[in-house]
Amino acid sequence: MSAALLSVEGLRVGFRTADGGMVEAVRGVDFCVAPGEAVGIVGESGSGKSLSMLAVMRLLGAPARAIGGRVIFDGEDLLAADEKRMRALRGRDIAMVFQDPQSSLNPALTVGRQITDVVRAHRGVSAAEARRIAAEALERVGIRDAGRRLASYPHEFSGGMRQRALIAMAIACRPRLLIADEPTTALDVTVQAQIVDLIAELRRELNLAVVFISHNLQLVAEIVDRVVVMYGGKVVEDGPVEAIELAPRHPYTSLLKACVPSLTGPVGPLTAIEGAPPRLGRLPAGCPFSPRCPDAAESCSHQMPPLIDEAGHRTACWRPR
Ligand SMILES: Nc1ncnc2c1ncn2[C@@H]1O[C@H](COP(=O)(O)OP(=O)(O)OP(=O)(O)O)[C@@H](O)[C@H]1O
Ligand SMILES: [Mg+2]
Repeated sequence: MSAALLSVEGLRVGFRTADGGMVEAVRGVDFCVAPGEAVGIVGESGSGKSLSMLAVMRLLGAPARAIGGRVIFDGEDLLAADEKRMRALRGRDIAMVFQDPQSSLNPALTVGRQITDVVRAHRGVSAAEARRIAAEALERVGIRDAGRRLASYPHEFSGGMRQRALIAMAIACRPRLLIADEPTTALDVTVQAQIVDLIAELRRELNLAVVFISHNLQLVAEIVDRVVVMYGGKVVEDGPVEAIELAPRHPYTSLLKACVPSLTGPVGPLTAIEGAPPRLGRLPAGCPFSPRCPDAAESCSHQMPPLIDEAGHRTACWRPR
């Protein structure tokens, strides 16, 4: 892999249980993001996508805790950085957009105030200059009459506009990495597509590296270069988007592909993957997907398959397709 902007190495996130034990929700995750690269992280609910990226941002709340591994951003180990350093990096070098634009904005403050606060916290600029930067950011995300819209409160915006405002806040300080965690799931399908297009456009314009988290492989595939598939707190497959789409090697990826309707194509019946995702602390010793896997042999549940790299396409499966 080329010199990475972000390199996540052996990341583990755990929870202390009531009886003093530890359950791991993220169990040794490795992946890289190159400068300007867009990477999708996909997987069913509970696979550890959000916890992994919250750990990267050092935003895990108790009882979750990073218990192992390294997160190297531009040469610096974020898991070893102090909180002051993280506050400087968050919002300036690494920005995050969450699923629910409603709860990510403060309803009591104008949109303009919320963006200018971020700008002033990170860039030593005057109030007037911060307003100019905020208006420019709002305009860039496609909000018309941006200068006047700075005075609006979040409730005066539609759901799609609120998500745009959050993206404006995220890009206002020109970060190098944008982490978008299910940024479209709360929106209707048309608006979803617009937000995905917007993120793709900003990425090109600003040479932004993007980590885009979603359940929806098809949606992610439209804008990313590479896809990381997670299951049971592990990376089970990671490769160029074309390879993942055309020739997935992990049976889970194949099923995930069949699972989700395309945004642009006809909406067919959803073929759900049979069985339920694993519960924390109830994972088999071997491949976490083996209990649901149509290709599994008995031996698959004995030992976790290693993530094997073949020309930049990594797969953790004893019986890859
Ligand atoms: N505060 C918490 N306390 C206990 N368990 C938690 C907590 N937060 C998350 N978990 C568990 O950790 C696992 C991974 O959670 P995570 O939020 O990373 O999943 P995800 O892949 O982002 O799922 P989704 O697609 O639903 O957002 C899940 O089983 C979840 O129930
Ligand atoms: Mg999540």
